[in-house]
Amino acid sequence: MNSVEPHKPLDVLIMAAGLGTRMKSKRAKVLHELGGLPLIAHVCRAAQALKPQAIFVVVGHQADEVENAARTQVGDLARFVLQAQQRGTGDAVETARGALENSDSLLLVLSGDVPLVKAETLTKLIEHHHTTGSDCSILSVRLENPTGYGRVIRDEQNSFVRIVEQKDANSEQRQVKEINSGIYCFETRKLFKALKRIAPVNEQGEYYLTDVPEILMAEGARVSVYLHNDPREVSGINTRAELAEFENLLRRNTIRSLMIEGGVTFIDPSHAYVSAEATIGPDCVIYPDVSIEGKSAVGEGCTLRSGTRITNSRLGNNVLIKDHCVIVDSEIDSNCSVGPFAHLRMNAQLAEDSAVGNFVEVKKSRLGRRTKAMHLSYLGDATIGEQTNIGAGTITCNYDGTRKHETIIEDDVKIGSDTMLVAPVRVGARSVTGAGSVVIEDVPADSLVAGVPAEIVDNARSNITLFVCKGCQKHWLDSDHTHTFPPWYHEQYGRGRKHKTRDLVALFQNWHAGDIFCESCGLAAAERFSRYLVNGRPTENPEVTVKVPKSDIKKFLMLYAKTVKVQAEKRNFHESFAYRFHVTFTTGLFKTLPARQRVAFATMTGLLGTLNIL
Ligand code: UD1
Ligand code: CA
Repeated sequence: MNSVEPHKPLDVLIMAAGLGTRMKSKRAKVLHELGGLPLIAHVCRAAQALKPQAIFVVVGHQADEVENAARTQVGDLARFVLQAQQRGTGDAVETARGALENSDSLLLVLSGDVPLVKAETLTKLIEHHHTTGSDCSILSVRLENPTGYGRVIRDEQNSFVRIVEQKDANSEQRQVKEINSGIYCFETRKLFKALKRIAPVNEQGEYYLTDVPEILMAEGARVSVYLHNDPREVSGINTRAELAEFENLLRRNTIRSLMIEGGVTFIDPSHAYVSAEATIGPDCVIYPDVSIEGKSAVGEGCTLRSGTRITNSRLGNNVLIKDHCVIVDSEIDSNCSVGPFAHLRMNAQLAEDSAVGNFVEVKKSRLGRRTKAMHLSYLGDATIGEQTNIGAGTITCNYDGTRKHETIIEDDVKIGSDTMLVAPVRVGARSVTGAGSVVIEDVPADSLVAGVPAEIVDNARSNITLFVCKGCQKHWLDSDHTHTFPPWYHEQYGRGRKHKTRDLVALFQNWHAGDIFCESCGLAAAERFSRYLVNGRPTENPEVTVKVPKSDIKKFLMLYAKTVKVQAEKRNFHESFAYRFHVTFTTGLFKTLPARQRVAFATMTGLLGTLNIL
């Protein structure tokens, strides 16, 4: 019993079986949350820091849930004893008799409803226990308003006499401001021996653990009181009002230390909610009404705008979360932007530099690097590659009424606005879906699909590698766009020669429907053709559709402005890269051409577009 003796191993017992009637709740008190964690978890965490042999948790009300909460926090260190009927704190400890009675250890007794107690304070109590050579040490504090607590009664010499519960105290005892915190350190075997002698003879008809110190003293054991200086730390929570006060206190502490030690900016610290378990990197800016819950981790330099909730999620560095987003169980890599009004949940993952915009819900889906979904979309059970754009209003139809199915969208895809992707479905790399498409079948790579149900409109990109320009006789992909006119044309007609109908017919006779020309050959031929028209006699207005890419519009208009009427019309299913022009030729030429050549002409002008799209 002197301090030279090696310290005994430590066990912890947490009383957590009560319902907590003053909470006026169906939930067990220790399951109520503080800073996003159940009360019991806070106590378990403090206990765990002392590295005990075991943490015994006395469970009763909602035993399963309480066990889960404790196990989540401390894992296998926790052992559970069931107190089926709550007959008082003495009875609560009694339930652990089988496991502890003969244990030559120190037993630290804690209450599940005293959540803010710090491990350092518990260590000080244990040190006090050792240095005073006590068999029982009681942690006390002085309270301005001690109502409701057990009072520490001392004699004239200021020595401990007994603990008297509020309900059993006389008016003189009620004046005492030193209270029992409900935290004790016992010589385990002596505790269980004394426990046999307590009886429910009191106002509440309960077995009081608080009777044990007096019994121990009567048996000649040494009981001491360790007066702690921070009453708030060991205050129990008995009502919801107290819970709210604690919540405030905890939050203020958390935010203060994030500001002072963590280098985090809070625009309005009194209106930010950060769980004690969350981490936030330096140079983050947190706007008012942001909640960061659970084990969330926010990297450096992030900005979280107002009204956002982040629960158990990870954010990389320099992430921007715009106003009113809900982010639960998700991961956002560095330099992403989210919101406003976005919802990420169930392991949504945004890879670096990706972005999710207004009213977009991402569930159990991954967006690859630099991929964007900026407006009004639902992406569920989807895996989306890199540099892909998800158009406004895109929906992954992942649920068939019974089961969920996956959508896969590969790299560099453009999903047109209002596309429905009926899962299971895959959209191959570099493909495009037209606005309003309902995609029910897999889309091969390099395709354009449109319609309801979506069908392949164009997969020129995959074909083009096989095309040979009829004009320059080169592969399309080999074309360096320097051709001004087909070489064979020069040979046949000579440069700068004035064209006659005969020439043109001859030209078209060499071209057939389905022939492919590169951009330069096609444009050059068209130019010759238009020059001819200047001298021609206009008699008819056949309409021919020419597709020209945005980038070539200027060139095209310069060529044709004088001779043809051009009306631009944005192609609704192809808006990302092409425009459709209605070109009205003012010439009687068409009429004079044989049918085959008319087709050839249309093909040529059409081909201009097909090729130019690329
Ligand atoms: C207890 C102390 C009181 C002290 C106060 C500090 C007793 C008799 N009184 O009072 O001196 O000032 O704590 O907070 O010990 N529990 C059980 N089984 C039971 C009864 C309680 O597991 O049969 C658990 C409760 O769930 C709670 C803890 O023990 O976590 C304390 O019980 P509670 O009823 O809150 O005791 P108090 O009235 O606060
Ligand atoms: Ca209590």
